[in-house]
Amino acid sequence: MTVHIGAKPGDIAETVLLPGDPYRARWAAQTFLENPVLVNEVRGMLGFTGTWKGHRVTIHGTGMGMPSLSIYANELIRDYGARTLIRIGSAGALQHHVKVRDIVLAQATTTLGSPSRSIFKELNFAPVADFGLLSAAHAAATQRKIPTHVGGIYSSDTFYDERQDLSDQLQRHNCLCVEMEAAELYTLAARHGARALAILTISDHILTHEALPADQRERSFGDMVEIALQAAFT
Ligand code: ADE
Repeated sequence: MTVHIGAKPGDIAETVLLPGDPYRARWAAQTFLENPVLVNEVRGMLGFTGTWKGHRVTIHGTGMGMPSLSIYANELIRDYGARTLIRIGSAGALQHHVKVRDIVLAQATTTLGSPSRSIFKELNFAPVADFGLLSAAHAAATQRKIPTHVGGIYSSDTFYDERQDLSDQLQRHNCLCVEMEAAELYTLAARHGARALAILTISDHILTHEALPADQRERSFGDMVEIALQAAFT
C-alpha cells in the first residue's frame, strides 16, 4: 500500500490506462477487461486490474490536473512498477481543423509549469510521448477511420482560463488542443524510464464553442480505450 493507493504489491499491471474520472476507470474495466478486480478505492479513486487478450492491464483514475495525476503516476511507477502509462482523456480544440470528436495524440506538451517545474530551475524541459506508443496508437486510430491528429498540445492548470493572450500564442504556434495532465505524465515517465502517451478526444472547441453531446461521450471514450489497449500491446 502507498499513501494514496490501497493495492497490494503485484496487484497493479505493468500497463496502466489512466482516465481522469474514476467512474470512467470502472466503466472501461467492466466493458473491456476480462475478470476486472477492484484494486484501489482510496478517496474514491478507483483502480481495476484485469486482462485484455491475455495481457494484464490496470485502469486507474488520476483525478483532474497535474498535481493529482502526479501523485498517482509517481506511486504507480515507483511503488508498483508500472512501465507503460497511457492517459485517456478529453481536451479542448485550439485549431479550426481539429474538430469535436477527433482524436489527438499528444506528441509534445507545452506548459506554464508543472509539479516538476521547480527541479528544472532554468531548464525548459520538453516532455514528449514515447514514439513506439505514439506510432502504434496512430496506426490503431487510423485503422478505425477516426480523424486523428498528432502534434503539440498545451497542459494547463486552469480550466476556466481567461488568458486570451496565451490562447492566441498557442494557436499561432500550432498547438492542437488544451488538457490538464499530459505534461507531468510525460515528465515522470522520462525520469523513471517508463513509456507514456496521452490519447485525447476533443470534447469541446475553444474557437467555436461547440461541445461533444453527452450521449456521444461514452462511445468516444470507448474508442480511446481500444486504441490504448491496441497500442500498448503492439
Ligand atoms: N479538457 C477538456 N476540455 C478542456 C478545456 N477546454 N480546457 C482544459 N482541459 C480540458
